[in-house]
Amino acid sequence: MSDFNIKPSHTIENNTPGSGSDTSLKKRLGVIATCVVGGSLVALYAVAGPFVAPALRKVCLPFVPATSTQIENVLKVLLTRSGSLVDIGSGDGRIVIAAAKRGFKAVGFELNPWLVWYSRYKAWREGVHHSTSFYISDLWKVSFSQYSNVVIFGVPQMMEQLEIKLQTELHSSAKVVACRFPFPTWSPDDIAGEGIDTVWIYDAKTFKTLIRNDKDNEGQDDKTQQ
Ligand SMILES: C[S@@+](CC[C@H](N)C(=O)[O-])C[C@H]1O[C@@H](n2cnc3c(N)ncnc32)[C@H](O)[C@@H]1O
Repeated sequence: MSDFNIKPSHTIENNTPGSGSDTSLKKRLGVIATCVVGGSLVALYAVAGPFVAPALRKVCLPFVPATSTQIENVLKVLLTRSGSLVDIGSGDGRIVIAAAKRGFKAVGFELNPWLVWYSRYKAWREGVHHSTSFYISDLWKVSFSQYSNVVIFGVPQMMEQLEIKLQTELHSSAKVVACRFPFPTWSPDDIAGEGIDTVWIYDAKTFKTLIRNDKDNEGQDDKTQQ
């Protein structure tokens, strides 16, 4: 008699909507969907974060790559130069790589790690990895004293502060090239290109005397006040 009450586990009721196996399948799908969405958001944040971060800093210096004309102009004003070159905020490494192809020992400092890894890969692919180096670094925390050629594609808000930094750090034999935005108080030796491709070249011998003049003036001011 009691045998009639025993139901097999695969009865039709178990597969009907709302049954136990249906609920556990839904739960599993829910977990998978949460993992996929969560993982995608984390990946998106990891990739996009370094590109958005510069916009949140006090001086916003976003990734805007140099045009090929701009790069040609940089190399034109540095035609008679050789030795070491640094690109401050090197982006995807295009200036560093072009300079290395012209015989410079070229270095890039860049805040965005993705751009640094991509630059290293591109330098290797283009066969200049022996004469290039890329560092993940904040430009304000690095000294550029060892470089004889300095390139910067900056923004106007940072140029005054950068003038002071380079005036103090660079040797008199160095040259500085500014792309698109000139330095506010220095006088350029030469200018190449026009519009957004304009570059200005400055001689450290000239701009370093400005510090001495500033210091002299401070001295004069002190004497006047006494
Ligand atoms: C206008 S882009 C110039 C890129 C490259 N020099 C070129 O000409 O193609 C400026 C670069 O500076 C980087 N950057 C912004 N703030 C920085 C910082 N504090 N230190 C180092 N690099 C920074 C940005 O990520 C961006 O790639």
